[in-house]
Amino acid sequence: MNRPLVIGNWKMNLDFVEAVHLTQQLSVLLKNQPSAHTDAVVAPPFVDLRSVASVLESERSSVALAAQHVSAHESGAHTGEVSLAMLTRLGVAWVLVGHSERRAHYAMSDDVVAATLRTVVRGAVNAVLCVGEDEAVRDASEHESYVAAQLASALAGLEEKSRALVTVAYEPIWAIGTGRSASAAQISEMTLAIRRELSALGFADTRVLYGGSVTSDNAATTLLDGGVDGFLVGGASLKADSFTAIIRVCDDCYAVSANRR
Ligand code: PGA
Repeated sequence: MNRPLVIGNWKMNLDFVEAVHLTQQLSVLLKNQPSAHTDAVVAPPFVDLRSVASVLESERSSVALAAQHVSAHESGAHTGEVSLAMLTRLGVAWVLVGHSERRAHYAMSDDVVAATLRTVVRGAVNAVLCVGEDEAVRDASEHESYVAAQLASALAGLEEKSRALVTVAYEPIWAIGTGRSASAAQISEMTLAIRRELSALGFADTRVLYGGSVTSDNAATTLLDGGVDGFLVGGASLKADSFTAIIRVCDDCYAVSANRR
């Protein structure tokens, strides 16, 4: 088992005052009971990043900062967009790339996903490539080939020195925000397929996360039976206790599996 990674995707929730509150609560909980084995990251909305970064810094928190999106372009005439340089200046060390909500509602094509991923890793920032099928693709039993094509389109030809900066998040669209997490068997099947495709592309060591209605109740089964390296968490990351509970589950599972080795 790889060292677990848990990323909280706050989506378009929490203004900067609320974000500061949540970050303070998270810092206190994690200071009282530090996570020994799990990397924790939060992805607030752009306008909260500066405030959240200040709290994390003043609390000397081990939680790292992510952005939910970035422009593929470096600068210039891109009204409404945010550049990677602007984000790194704020201490952002991770960026979500190609979340299904960006792909579906903001016309983020595979080509734009690939270009964005290259922008992120060129800036020495960690990229979380999000992939996953919708219900129609799964009903047609095409989920494995669909996700393999998403991976190949984003990762093929990426230079070797950048590969360590890539993490993959498998998020079946039908499981996101629905309270209907994929089963451990479905996740395990897809994780294997994803790892096979990643190996073929030269990404054998890449961490694979699962996202889609993750809670502290289903986290242990998903981690152990689903064979993933952690989670991309939406809804359950908006409360400090539910998010830290998921981090603790990862910590405990990692410790148990390390003892077995
Ligand atoms: P959810 O969101 O945990 O609320 O299902 C996951 C995601 O979209 O990253």
